[in-house]
Amino acid sequence: MTTFTEETRVRAREIIARYPADRSRSALLPLLHLVQAEEGYVSPAGVAFCAEVLGLNKAQVGAVATFYTMYKRRPTGDYLVSVCTNTMCNVLGGQEVYDTLAEHLGVGHDETTADGKITLEHAECLAACDYGPVMTVNYDFFDGVDPQGAVGVVDELRAGGRPMPTRGARLCTLKEMAVQLAGFADEREGAVADGGPGEATLRGLRLAEQHGITAPGYDPKTPIRSKAEADRAAAEAKAKAEAAKAPAPAAPAAKPEQVTGSTAPDVKAPDDKSPQVRTAETRQPDAATAVPDAPGTRVPTDGAPPATRDAQAAQAAGVAANAPAGDGKPAGDEAGAQERNLKEAEAETGAAGAGSAVASETGAKK
Ligand code: FES
Repeated sequence: MTTFTEETRVRAREIIARYPADRSRSALLPLLHLVQAEEGYVSPAGVAFCAEVLGLNKAQVGAVATFYTMYKRRPTGDYLVSVCTNTMCNVLGGQEVYDTLAEHLGVGHDETTADGKITLEHAECLAACDYGPVMTVNYDFFDGVDPQGAVGVVDELRAGGRPMPTRGARLCTLKEMAVQLAGFADEREGAVADGGPGEATLRGLRLAEQHGITAPGYDPKTPIRSKAEADRAAAEAKAKAEAAKAPAPAAPAAKPEQVTGSTAPDVKAPDDKSPQVRTAETRQPDAATAVPDAPGTRVPTDGAPPATRDAQAAQAAGVAANAPAGDGKPAGDEAGAQERNLKEAEAETGAAGAGSAVASETGAKK
């Protein structure tokens, strides 16, 4: 079993000290990168180490380590080559890049070449869709790659070279990158300033400058609240939300009064109209109010008051214009059904009229 070096133990203490004493388990993610920096992957010993220094059990650490794909469960090569095969990169040729590399290196997904140099993996979106197809080497980007270019990069790596990524710092090994991911600075001279961002990345910034938009200021010295303070704030917010939800005290019931003349208070009757009628009236305020027994009125089967022909016509007109209803709902199937009902009613009325004419003619002949 691996015994982690004193340097790793010192770094582990430094990572844990970044977090409030009662939230030390938040240090788990950087600690997993730290043990990966020493072994090249998160071994059972690495899991045990993290559990020990954080006072967790191995199952808790293992659950996190197996959730994220950046934590490797098997020994990994010096260079992790990730090829994006997700939608955007795929349509731009990402799958061809991956297939060509797999054939050239003689390895499949999550496999390492015999010389221990390259581990290949296909990735699901590397968050650089605007540069697709992309591949990364130890999380540094090679944008707009094609199969031949990708083969050139891995050949150079296997020959001991370090090709420059399209953006960001020059390449380092996966173990060195894991130290940075654990939150320690890249100490190579000028490495951080090696490569500038790409134009597609800067597009949003350019637009913001053009429109005079700036980000609000942020003071990095803003103190992190203690758990007790955070709990108190959460309890206050909860109490406030519950108070807002509580029903308002009932107002004393108003006595019905005999009202005369223009001094009558404007007391509105409760609006118990069906949504269909209200919608139709909103669309065409001049239409007649629904009358249940008006000619041509369709009686809804849901017990709602029926709409008049005028209301139905108004609704049909609204549907034709696809205008949103006054209640904020878009014209939908229900409104479409109303239109069909109206047409059927008109057809039936026409048929009935024709039938009466035939009947009266027949009667006349008798
Ligand atoms: S789809 Fe490839 S980076 Fe997003």
